[in-house]
Amino acid sequence: MELIEAHNMDSYANSLASSSSSRLSSVHASPLTTPELSDDGFEIDRLPSPMRVSDSVEEREDAGWRLVGQPSPNFILVIGGLGYIGSHTVLELLREGHNVLIVDNLSNSYESVLHRIQLLTSAHCKKTGGSMPLIHFHRLDYRSRSMRLLLESYSDLVMTINASGQQKMTYRSRITGVIHFAAYKSVVESIAKPLEYYQNNVCGLVSLLQHLEAYGIRNFIFSSSATVYGSKSDAGVPLREEYIVHHPEEQVQDGHKVVLQPSAVGLSCPYARTKYFSEAILADMAAANPEWRIVVLRYFNPVGCDPSGLLGENPRGEATNLFPVLTQVLTGHRKMLDVFGSDWMTRDGTAIRDFIHVLDVARGHISALEWNADRGNGFRSFNLGSGSGTTVLEAVKSLEAASGRKIPLNWTGRRAGDVGFCVASTDRALKELGWSTRESITQCASDLWNFVQKATSDLAAKV
Ligand SMILES: NC(=O)c1ccc[n+]([C@@H]2O[C@H](COP(=O)([O-])OP(=O)(O)OC[C@H]3O[C@@H](n4cnc5c(N)ncnc54)[C@H](O)[C@@H]3O)[C@@H](O)[C@H]2O)c1
Repeated sequence: MELIEAHNMDSYANSLASSSSSRLSSVHASPLTTPELSDDGFEIDRLPSPMRVSDSVEEREDAGWRLVGQPSPNFILVIGGLGYIGSHTVLELLREGHNVLIVDNLSNSYESVLHRIQLLTSAHCKKTGGSMPLIHFHRLDYRSRSMRLLLESYSDLVMTINASGQQKMTYRSRITGVIHFAAYKSVVESIAKPLEYYQNNVCGLVSLLQHLEAYGIRNFIFSSSATVYGSKSDAGVPLREEYIVHHPEEQVQDGHKVVLQPSAVGLSCPYARTKYFSEAILADMAAANPEWRIVVLRYFNPVGCDPSGLLGENPRGEATNLFPVLTQVLTGHRKMLDVFGSDWMTRDGTAIRDFIHVLDVARGHISALEWNADRGNGFRSFNLGSGSGTTVLEAVKSLEAASGRKIPLNWTGRRAGDVGFCVASTDRALKELGWSTRESITQCASDLWNFVQKATSDLAAKV
């Protein structure tokens, strides 16, 4: 049987890719290599004019109808896929054989990450004898109007057939799932620039969902954060997903039925509110249209990197998370590490966090995608954490052990909004996703040190 493509909408992607100067063998190059910026900072659309964009794509591949012939390759769309967690997840997706379509505006990452991903994937395929999956990259602000055209270019009008042999033309997106990482993430910066955070993290999400809805792409994984638990962390017990719900949920507790009510308590900054609001919007989407399958993943403290040392956390802006700051102390870019508070009710007086290796986080996304594909519909949240707490001092010692170097400390008072204990309950992720962490804090530290050494020697080679 043969696939009939009555209207192939690939012209956009093809013409853009062929006009680009920096093309990798199996990587579609950026359509907007030197983006023009409009007044509001969005990239201006520069797309071929004859391209038709329908206002809404009404016809869908319905139940009871199947494709005639071989379908075109499917993709997982990864937005923010060249950032710290995104790049590791893209690599893991490729290692699992998925084709990946990356959208990133490089506001907090570099195009060189794409080349490293390709290198690592190619090495993996050689080792396993597998074929190289497709990697497409579009340098694009996910809030720009070009996003709609991009989705259109991954949508085909195809022939389908039902059980009684009737044929009809229907739209089919080649994007079978979306993982949305793109956001601004600095707590401190969000306090100084709240509107930029709401614009990118919340308004951007709303317009993205409208575009996805128009193209019938409703399998969605969202990067959330333990920050949504706000002051619930103060209780000093592992945080359970049901502590934060967005619609009333029935639950049996100690043999009694209780109804959990939506609430947010003590969200400490605009960044935390962007994550809470985004989750609430996604829960409302799933409630309004049962075809949506939405998973929100609440990360605890992702650290470490791929053992190759080729990928890692390399932000353009100022590093604020513990491990990137520790890295800067080790490389001499900072004199010492500020430790906020030595009087927490913990074993050594420093705050306890749930550090999780970024590869475990990446694998969590694959589990969530698989789980989402199998179930009917709805909204579900999962913690991605190890379930065990490490104090700041223990984290410092792990990196001192990995590097063989002493890390100077500057003891300072507690910061406003900080909590002493923030550890995940991992029951739900284990029971429903079948996912749990594999890597230890020692592994995180040694992989991070490997990355630091590689980065330092690369830099030395360039000088
Ligand atoms: N790293 C953590 O500790 C942590 C913890 C909890 C939650 N999260 C969330 O996980 C997600 C990924 O975090 P990360 O640490 O990888 O951050 P990151 O900054 O390294 O990656 C984000 C990527 O998104 C891109 N991006 C940002 N805005 C964009 C836009 N408008 N259009 C296109 N691309 C855009 C950036 O260039 C970057 O490559 C974020 O949503 C973050 O809030 C991170």
